[in-house]
Amino acid sequence: MPETEEPLTLAPEEKNSQVNTNDNRIDHNQSHTNGITRGESATTPQTHRFDPSFTQSLINATGPKASPRMRKVMASLIRHVHDFARENEITVDEYMAGVEMINEAGRMSTDKRNEGQLLSGVIGLESLVDEITYKLATDATDAPTSSAILGPFWRANAPARKMGESIVHNITDGDDTFMHGKITDYLTGEPIEGAELDVWHTAPNGLYEQQDEDQVDFNLRGRFTTGKDGRYNFYCLRPTSYPIPYDGPAGKLLQLLDRHPMRPAHIHFIVKAPNYKPIITQLFDRRDKHITDDAVFAVKESLVVDFLPKEGDPKARFELPYDFRLATYEEAKKNSEEAEATFVDLTGLNLS
Ligand code: BEZ
Ligand code: FE
Repeated sequence: MPETEEPLTLAPEEKNSQVNTNDNRIDHNQSHTNGITRGESATTPQTHRFDPSFTQSLINATGPKASPRMRKVMASLIRHVHDFARENEITVDEYMAGVEMINEAGRMSTDKRNEGQLLSGVIGLESLVDEITYKLATDATDAPTSSAILGPFWRANAPARKMGESIVHNITDGDDTFMHGKITDYLTGEPIEGAELDVWHTAPNGLYEQQDEDQVDFNLRGRFTTGKDGRYNFYCLRPTSYPIPYDGPAGKLLQLLDRHPMRPAHIHFIVKAPNYKPIITQLFDRRDKHITDDAVFAVKESLVVDFLPKEGDPKARFELPYDFRLATYEEAKKNSEEAEATFVDLTGLNLS
């Protein structure tokens, strides 16, 4: 996700890390609102008319017991948020609208509805953080399977199912699909025994089971564990595109930005095995009309797949062959010390 950045003057203490810290920065392209000129023209010095020591005094209030990571991340967040408010001359009314949006997201969130994650998805933050995490973990060309965002609909403890079982219950209008493949070590190509594939996707009506009273509990979800040959296979549906829930703040934001809520058809997976770094990912149907137009910007080329017509199987019209490649923690760590941090985050999700 390359982005063009204005050249900025860096504060002396941040010059080495190339982090933008200049509190005096103004976005010169954002200077007109309602006929009132805000900010300054591109030819004026980079300065603003607000208290020049305010931001630093906030940062300096951090106490000695704060961890180094907390100190660094929060100082950066405070600088960016303050810059944002100054550059756009955010008014109290606008600020209150933003606070209310966050509060409303909190009020709407339950164990079946994660509005905070939806909001962050709509502004691309979950996809960006996924890209950063993946790039930190490995940049190799013959890499492990790419990651993709988790999204808000994963449920822990999906039923453990036998190989060859179907995850589809009481759905008659879907395109039955046989998915199969191997889970291997990305370096050696050896099959991984005891690897678990956790899979979930929506029904043809575009709803995950926890959103839909008419589906049985844990419909279209399952966990499959490989034997010695590292192989897996099961029946699912060829997925359909669906709108992310847009009856809350995330939908309101999409509407204000004149954007649609559609995600291209995809199946979610978490793949994990003892001693291997878990992968959270999705596979996307190449033929879907939203494949280049995902509401949460999560599609990666290496995760776009072809559903093939299947002959001679009364239980499936399509098949999806796909091999997942995992890296050991040791390998992942060799590529980046940050892989360790990723491990900690993932265990927080009960993935181990
Ligand atoms: C999903 O794929 O389930 C999803 C991801 C981000 C926002 C909403 C839904
Ligand atoms: Fe999804």
